[in-house]
Amino acid sequence: MKKFGLIGYPLKHSFSKQYYNDKFEKEGITDCVYELLPLQQISELPGLLKASPELCGLNVTIPHKIGVMFYLDKISPEAKEVDAVNCIKIIKRNPVESFFCGEVGVDKVQLAGFNTDVYGFEESLKPLLPKRPIKALVLGDGGAARAVFYVLKKLHIDFSVVSRRATSKQLSYEQVNPEVIAQHLLIINTTPLGTFPDVEACPQIPYEYLSKDHLLYDLVYNPAETAFLKRGAARGATVKNGMEMLVLQAEKNWEIWNN
Ligand SMILES: NC(=O)c1ccc[n+]([C@@H]2O[C@H](COP(=O)([O-])OP(=O)(O)OC[C@H]3O[C@@H](n4cnc5c(N)ncnc54)[C@H](OP(=O)(O)O)[C@@H]3O)[C@@H](O)[C@H]2O)c1
Repeated sequence: MKKFGLIGYPLKHSFSKQYYNDKFEKEGITDCVYELLPLQQISELPGLLKASPELCGLNVTIPHKIGVMFYLDKISPEAKEVDAVNCIKIIKRNPVESFFCGEVGVDKVQLAGFNTDVYGFEESLKPLLPKRPIKALVLGDGGAARAVFYVLKKLHIDFSVVSRRATSKQLSYEQVNPEVIAQHLLIINTTPLGTFPDVEACPQIPYEYLSKDHLLYDLVYNPAETAFLKRGAARGATVKNGMEMLVLQAEKNWEIWNN
């Protein structure tokens, strides 16, 4: 039996567990399980790997996306630049390979880290982008925003960041005036505002200045139409929630684990 799982703490609701268990059932995959593996301290990771030699891949969530990198043998260039890992491939060497690499013992594993949020965001955003160049406004400057910044740079999209803790390089919410809204036709919510059950919450921007030329992308996926997206849609903007990004990153994890 091949085991996959999610490390983080605390692990309450998990999209991943539901997603992979549904996938195994739908696709008739009978030799795999996906489990929640709560780790209060990331220092517990080596013990977990030793106790579960059947583990082949892990997802990583809050608060270990950065701390886990200390335990990895390889980190993809994307994950290095984003400075966060959300997917780990556990590579097992067979005893002969291990012997020739000078390793003692047959249970030596190598851990390779990736950031698949980058892939999910890029692939879900690209089809929505207009041909002409546009500027983006990124709301929030937390962990998920870093994957967004990486993709926007890669796609050569100029962007400004709006933060409650605005520095000289960022805007405060008070500075987001009609001109700022008119100049930034792509607005991306990377804050958790609007997530179930607090579904009435949304970032404080002047929604009345949005137009049909705007594209609003919300990383939040539950509910499907957040207050942020509802307000954009009411002004004729194109809207996109975070579900496709989530599914794309989940499928990318699966591809990484099985290649
Ligand atoms: N769809 C997907 O595949 C996907 C992937 C990753 C994450 N997500 C979602 O993206 C969201 C953000 O994730 P994260 O890990 O980056 O979360 P986070 O670190 O907790 O929050 C991100 C940022 O949001 C801002 N923020 C937080 N609470 C706020 C509030 N009450 N009012 C205004 N701004 C607030 C903060 O930025 P400032 O302090 O700079 O204002 C914070 O750093 C979550 O809802 C997560 O579920 C979705």
